[in-house]
Amino acid sequence: MLGRAPGRPDSRPAALDGSALRARPSVLGSRVEVDSGTVSEWVEIAVRVDGDRADDVAAEVAPNGAQLRDGEVVFWVAPDERDSALAATRAAVGAFGLTPSDVTARPAAPESEWRDAWKRYFKVHRVTRRLVIVPSWETYAPAGDDIVLHLDPGQAFGTGTHASTQLCLDALEQLEPVDRFLDLGTGSGILSIAAAKLWPSASGIATDIDPLAVQASSENCVRNEVADRVECSDRALSSIDEQFPLILANIQAPVHLALRDEMIPRVAPNGALVLSGLLSEQVDEVARCFADAGMVLDRITRSERDPEWSAAHLRGRA
Ligand SMILES: C[S@@+](CC[C@H](N)C(=O)[O-])C[C@H]1O[C@@H](n2cnc3c(N)ncnc32)[C@H](O)[C@@H]1O
Repeated sequence: MLGRAPGRPDSRPAALDGSALRARPSVLGSRVEVDSGTVSEWVEIAVRVDGDRADDVAAEVAPNGAQLRDGEVVFWVAPDERDSALAATRAAVGAFGLTPSDVTARPAAPESEWRDAWKRYFKVHRVTRRLVIVPSWETYAPAGDDIVLHLDPGQAFGTGTHASTQLCLDALEQLEPVDRFLDLGTGSGILSIAAAKLWPSASGIATDIDPLAVQASSENCVRNEVADRVECSDRALSSIDEQFPLILANIQAPVHLALRDEMIPRVAPNGALVLSGLLSEQVDEVARCFADAGMVLDRITRSERDPEWSAAHLRGRA
């Protein structure tokens, strides 16, 4: 199973498939309308692709229907499905030689209307006992030992609503404090910000291959006053020679496997490695591949909210 190319029909994450990608609205065009005739609250997912490959890409990423326009394949999802659809599409386009930054999400309505639509879906939500996500345009009065993350994900993945992110945040809340961490595939920066806020003396590196994610994570670190402790960049793993007591990587299975031999030497002795973004049907095999290469498997956790998603928690040898 794990040898399959990322994003091919048989390996596409089920939770990111039909349920996440709704049939397109009935009226298509630059301004999208739904059946009621009102301007919709849909999110446009756009894939930049040349004409020769556009049909194949459209068939793969949007089997329910897409529009080909101006060098893009465009389809629509509901705002609360934006993160899932972005992740699925970015994973799928790799098979066509495209990169994650060829896929963007944007409002299907004018910006002013979109801001209101987005606000209606991305709300203050408690993700773990202590961690509360607060959209940057909302206010929230923390109670007790709440830790608030102020987020505007922009074009990046990471609102805290996806099960794969929540598995990492759960792990963070349960781990012993560390002084250094690496957040591989940081998206909005959510995991780094959570780590930095949970452990005020910790610092870390947040990396992503997508420039939009680097931008969003940098802005969110400033917003959360942790920019002096979290370095956001597009640094490749191969350029980082430090060993970390904690690495968090919420990426898809094929990427974990491709990066395995670079990732493991970056885990300090006894350090923790959390691999998320794994379908439950993939997690055992990915964990076994890392154990075969010297890591110790501590446990596997499965999302209660969405059992299709799991995480593997590994440890470096002493
Ligand atoms: C599922 S999102 C996770 C975002 C955030 N960390 C979270 O937990 O919500 C995966 C991120 O990994 C990034 N990514 C994909 N391949 C990568 C690679 N080889 N190295 C670094 N980042 C990568 C993507 O651009 C995306 O932002």
